Amino acid sequence: MGLRRKFVLGAVLIVTGLALSAGGCALQRLPNVPKEITGPAASPPILAAFQSDPKIQTQEDWQNRRAPLLKARFQSEIYGAMPAAVGYEIVSREVLQRPEKGAIGTIERISIALKTTQPGPWTGGRPIVDLILMTPKGKGPFPVIAGGTFCGNNVLLPKQPGMRTTTMALPQECGGGVPGFLVTAIFGLHANAPPWETLAEKGYALASWHPGDVVPDVPVVAEPYLEALTPVGTPPDQRTGAIAAWAWTNSRMVDVLSPDPRLDPNRIVIWGHSRHGKAALLSAAFDPRPAAIWALQSGTAGAALGRDDVGEPVSDITTSFPHWFAPAYRAYAGKPADLDVDQHQLIALLAPRPVLIGTGRRDQWGDPHGSFRALQGADPVYQLYGAPAFSQIKLRQPDSQGVLAFYMRPGLHGIHTEDWEEALSFFDRTVPTPASNAPNSRLKP
Ligand code: GCU
Repeated sequence: MGLRRKFVLGAVLIVTGLALSAGGCALQRLPNVPKEITGPAASPPILAAFQSDPKIQTQEDWQNRRAPLLKARFQSEIYGAMPAAVGYEIVSREVLQRPEKGAIGTIERISIALKTTQPGPWTGGRPIVDLILMTPKGKGPFPVIAGGTFCGNNVLLPKQPGMRTTTMALPQECGGGVPGFLVTAIFGLHANAPPWETLAEKGYALASWHPGDVVPDVPVVAEPYLEALTPVGTPPDQRTGAIAAWAWTNSRMVDVLSPDPRLDPNRIVIWGHSRHGKAALLSAAFDPRPAAIWALQSGTAGAALGRDDVGEPVSDITTSFPHWFAPAYRAYAGKPADLDVDQHQLIALLAPRPVLIGTGRRDQWGDPHGSFRALQGADPVYQLYGAPAFSQIKLRQPDSQGVLAFYMRPGLHGIHTEDWEEALSFFDRTVPTPASNAPNSRLKP
């Protein structure tokens, strides 16, 4: 390497180091959220009369009357219309790694064309998602942990040859170089790369994809893709938002994973961090197939209650990320209490399936308190299904028995080894292998 190049490289490293420590120190100074639970109880009370629907008394009341009403409300006021499920077509399958010579298992890329009711600006007119599927060695059918991740697939499994990035627009932080390096340094080792080896050792398959293959996560750029996914005849202020489009993508991936004989269709877990945690919750609210859900730091329009405007306010989220939502959601900026639904009702739509909500002590923006109160608010619906009550009383002392579960780890917004440890012990308990099914078998609707 020439002297000049060495000099430039050295300078870049020094500047990056300084930026990193300045950023890191500034972030570390963010205060912990209070240890004791604060804030009002979730409202409206989940079983109370809602609009013209009388009080809920049974599972049937919930399923047949209240759930459809709430789903309609979440679409019209927050997320926009869910795209129609028209089907998919496998375009290609390539094995990137075979389970030999110390490899963790088989790694494949399955390219899937998602059918849509109308053509859109994607190359070829419809979205193509590259699903990366790792199946461990050994005999399945394996439970599978499935979810969309923040950047392109090329950063999913850093040492794996043959991975490729998306051709769609990426958020600025995913551009590689210094911003990409900072993402991992600040947001954790697993910000972009799940712990594949650990999952393989424990007998879990992993399915990952880049939601930006369907709708790029960039305001304005996203609009024509959203228009194309919006069901024909939808009022303009309810056009599909990106969170709904990514939730729909989750369900299309479940379509692909369910018939795969190596995987157990009854043990598909959907997970997501932050914006993809919002999508994970929404997808399971509209799709009964996921066996369990893990939403990490999903915050506003995710697990956190929104009507109190604690954490990220509706005015901020709809200004920074207008493409995530139905335009109608903007009307609640500065007056979120005018909205007649809240996120405990979204969580309750997942009942009786296990839900794990992860938070960080310094992640004020993600509102750990509001997420905890949302679980408390959803709990009466779980109890209608005979689930044990959500009995956790301290934010930092998780209840290791619950179907609804909450944890708060030290630190900021990001995905760390501790998060995966929490999640895996939750899945081991709530989505058990058939052999260990008896004592912990999950509740059936
Ligand atoms: C921003 C946004 C959050 C979101 C987060 C993420 O911070 O304001 O709502 O959850 O990005 O996706 O990481």
